[in-house]
Amino acid sequence: MTFARIIGTGSYMPERILTNADLEQMVDTTDQWILDRTGIRERRIIAEDQKVSDLAEIAAKRALEASGTKAVDIDLVIVASATSELIFPSLACLIQQRLGIGDCPAFDINAACTGFIYQLDVANQFIKNGSAKNVLLVAAEGLSKVVDWDDRATCVLFSDGAGAVVLTADSKPGIRSTHIHADGTYSELLYAPSGRYGDDPPHIRMKGNDVFKVAVTKLGAVVTEALQANNLVVDDIDWLVPHQANLRIIKATAKRIHLPMERVILTIEKQGNTSAASVPLALDTGVREGKIKAGDTVLMEAFGAGFTWGSALVDF
Ligand SMILES: CC(C)(COP(=O)(O)OP(=O)(O)OC[C@H]1O[C@@H](n2cnc3c(N)ncnc32)[C@H](O)[C@@H]1OP(=O)(O)O)[C@@H](O)C(=O)NCCC(=O)NCCS
Repeated sequence: MTFARIIGTGSYMPERILTNADLEQMVDTTDQWILDRTGIRERRIIAEDQKVSDLAEIAAKRALEASGTKAVDIDLVIVASATSELIFPSLACLIQQRLGIGDCPAFDINAACTGFIYQLDVANQFIKNGSAKNVLLVAAEGLSKVVDWDDRATCVLFSDGAGAVVLTADSKPGIRSTHIHADGTYSELLYAPSGRYGDDPPHIRMKGNDVFKVAVTKLGAVVTEALQANNLVVDDIDWLVPHQANLRIIKATAKRIHLPMERVILTIEKQGNTSAASVPLALDTGVREGKIKAGDTVLMEAFGAGFTWGSALVDF
């Protein structure tokens, strides 16, 4: 039997830090309000001369290096992003060219904040059916470009960054299962217009309180679904790597499966919500801090616009 195994992780965050104190100067908010309601202290902002593809490229190179895989041996590239600098070509094609990866399939997916879980699901299928052997996944966002900096309800949440992983075909797991979901009837609770039709500026619009309630319900259900599908109990899980959107949502999800917070990878305080990049960024942070080790079983989950949501259960 063939499994898709994560053999390297990488990430990158832009240099510029925007603190809660900085935001106090920009909108009617306080450090205490942001910290209490979200758990975020600071977020990163892409530089004037940087593009989302630049963030993606650095994260991808770091993941390749960590995996010991040569760029020419990659035979599938999938990028997740909702904020590419180009409509086309895809970020995946840009990354393929910049890294010197040869002719292979390369495409982007947009599942908003759930992008990385969707990527893992798709890559797993390519590897399991023998269509790909070494897969590069990169998730990269420049959300600061679509934030309305006058809207205190959203501008405090979002951040820029990129995360990447290399997967390879192996006889031992690997990805044990993925569970991806979407329900477009919720599309008006969280969206960003393209800015190309009508008068709507390309800014994130969100009914935060409604999003919060659905996120807690769906994430609780999807982590339970992952445990049940694999006949696992919470003690079998070494780490939860959640989407870093709101500390209260993360705590509610961990509580749902009775997982102590000591076994949750938390990066939200310094990274904010980087949408699709959030889970691979947190994963790479957990690996590089020496928390996630070979042999560990890791449960990842995410929730985002669409709504989309999902989980992946992975052995390292
Ligand atoms: C955005 C979020 C932090 C707001 O927290 P909340 O507890 O739901 O707060 P509400 O939206 O009910 O707003 C409560 C009050 O705080 C105010 N408020 C909103 N943003 C504020 C800010 N940055 N600073 C101070 N006050 C703020 C609101 O205007 C409201 O004031 P009112 O009671 O006078 O009308 C929270 O809803 C959330 O995190 N939702 C999920 C968002 C998310 O994760 N989105 C991405 C999904 S991938």
